[in-house]
Amino acid sequence: MKILITGGCGFIGSHTCVELQNAGFDVVIADNLSNSKEEVIDRIEKITNKRPEFIKANLADEKECDEVFNTFSDINGVINFAAYKAVGESMDVPVKYYKNNLGILLNVLDNMQKHKIKYFVQSSSCTVYGEPDSLPIKETSPVKDATSPYGHTKQIAEQMLSFIVGKDIDAIALRYFNPIGAHKTALIGELPNGVPNNLLPFITQTAAGIRKELKVFGNDYPTSDGTCIRDYIHVVDLAKAHVVAMNRLINEKNKKPLEFFNIGTGHGYSVLEIINSFERSTGEKLNWSFAPRRAGDIIQIWADTQLAEEELGWKAQEDIDSMTSSAWNWQLQLKEE
Ligand code: UD1
Repeated sequence: MKILITGGCGFIGSHTCVELQNAGFDVVIADNLSNSKEEVIDRIEKITNKRPEFIKANLADEKECDEVFNTFSDINGVINFAAYKAVGESMDVPVKYYKNNLGILLNVLDNMQKHKIKYFVQSSSCTVYGEPDSLPIKETSPVKDATSPYGHTKQIAEQMLSFIVGKDIDAIALRYFNPIGAHKTALIGELPNGVPNNLLPFITQTAAGIRKELKVFGNDYPTSDGTCIRDYIHVVDLAKAHVVAMNRLINEKNKKPLEFFNIGTGHGYSVLEIINSFERSTGEKLNWSFAPRRAGDIIQIWADTQLAEEELGWKAQEDIDSMTSSAWNWQLQLKEE
């Protein structure tokens, strides 16, 4: 079976390529390298002893997307990671986000129909839930109004899929919680452009001396220690969920043409607990202080993982210290380059 991974050179995409190849799939990566590097291909090969095929393409461009599907006529399924993902930037340039994220989705689905490719896994996000009414959050919880164009593109993607799936295409949308960590070889990991927005890259860059100090956004939230709570998940666990989802589609075990699954650990950790885990697992001392709340942050969210466990037979394995220490090992390796 050959799977096309759009955005396969990125953080989650690259880890998913590794897990797919380890599971015996052939992989084709299509990526425009706008937020990643081609050398990721060499690193995937180093880890798996198998080189994924690669085509540089901007899938938001109809012609370039057609070219990918015409070049690789033996694709059986697609996992769609290619998207812009910076929440703040999406507020400044919303049209760029809608055009790119939804353009890619439409061009890919159009080609899947033309080439009779049935299996599709979409990269979605717990951001579709907004601030939860009750926790842990289930897949049946209401999707709230989006708070950013980025989040809106994830919601629209799910809604578009609900009308498009059926006889031609079956799809699974995986709603990720907060992916962190890196592969244990430290050969692949997260490579944010410029100043990181997300917590873990900011922590590792601060410990590495690239940033002066981590600002912890808010200490007066109604949580146990006053800081926000998230369900952090190891990127390798997350990558494995894609293999399981693709196999479910291929083996026609899906119960509906479009299914949604939460992909988290089911445990919430506060920002301070993450800092503690980082210091404990790495032996590094982190320079940090409290700062005002960040606009748009939700207070707390963690996943109900029962559906993924029962239906996918998938459960996250890695604990929080393994997440923070692997992120640090990746950062150390970057420093050496
Ligand atoms: C954000 C996005 C989410 C996206 C995810 C990617 C929103 C509302 N959500 O999630 O859609 O899928 O990134 O991983 O934007 N924090 C600090 N200091 C920092 C950075 C973060 O205290 O310098 C805190 C935040 O306030 C938050 C937690 O760390 O409580 C996690 O933040 P972050 O890593 O940015 O992820 P989310 O905001 O949860």
